[in-house]
Amino acid sequence: MQDMKEISTIKEAKQWLKPYQKKNLKIGFVPTMGALHEGHLRLIRQSENENDITVCSIFVNPIQFNNPDDLAKYPRNISLDARLLTGNGCDMLFCPGLEEMYPEGKTENVDLEFGLLDKVMEGKFRPGHFKGVVIVVKKLLDIINPTNAYFGKKDFQQLMVITRMKKELGLKANIIDCETVREDDGLAMSSRNLRLTIGERQVARRIFEVLCKVREKGTKTPVWELREWAIKKIQEDSRFRVEYFEIADRETLVPLENWGQASQAVALTAVFLGDVRLIDNVELFL
Ligand code: PAJ
Repeated sequence: MQDMKEISTIKEAKQWLKPYQKKNLKIGFVPTMGALHEGHLRLIRQSENENDITVCSIFVNPIQFNNPDDLAKYPRNISLDARLLTGNGCDMLFCPGLEEMYPEGKTENVDLEFGLLDKVMEGKFRPGHFKGVVIVVKKLLDIINPTNAYFGKKDFQQLMVITRMKKELGLKANIIDCETVREDDGLAMSSRNLRLTIGERQVARRIFEVLCKVREKGTKTPVWELREWAIKKIQEDSRFRVEYFEIADRETLVPLENWGQASQAVALTAVFLGDVRLIDNVELFL
């Protein structure tokens, strides 16, 4: 295994990748914002298994944060992240600065129509979020030019938005989706979990428990009734506040009114536990 190379400029990243691209080797790419945990590392290891070279990027992308406080609080620890990546099969870490990605604050807009996909749920409650995600992911894919790019189902709507972007723009990279990695009690791994108090952390499992119950109840209950039941069940503990809970078509993410409207569905939720905003989802097979 070679040592991991750390690169911060676009020019150097392209140069470093050139010999591998010339030899037609498979390049796997895992874009992240750092503060890495087992969820990210699972994507890195999957990429290592499926490619000749694995590249990870760490860039806390300011234009996808609609809340300045959230951006300011975003944990940053590149040297710890670099150590974790080295131990998990990453060959190159690309960690550009702000000026490198957006010189003089200029962003390269991606003009795409996503229908409802970027307007419901996360799109509704975090205005501008997906516009920022699409711009940065397009730019990173252009720089790295990977064979395969890895994304977690933890951010299900993001995965669908990126899949649609690939299709609409005819991008070369295969978009590979990876299952959500969870803590032992079922809580989806997230850098935000560290912001929960000990008491909140103990009860956080409730979100996934309710999602699983929804999957279990499935089509036996009307969609609206199931949705209301889930919101009530999560909020039975007053520390939780549900921002949205939707049952939607798996691909378009259009919220369902009845089960007949989709062949595959997904239940997605965003919940405040104290002042920490957590998202999670489960796929429902109809
Ligand atoms: P970030 O939140 O750092 O996540 C990077 C990738 O790791 C995403 O594809 C995300 O879905 C995946 N991931 C995070 N937690 C996971 C978990 N518990 N199980 C499985 N996968 C998980 O998502 C972003 O960064 C950014 O929006 C980015 C795509 C990098 C663009 O800035």
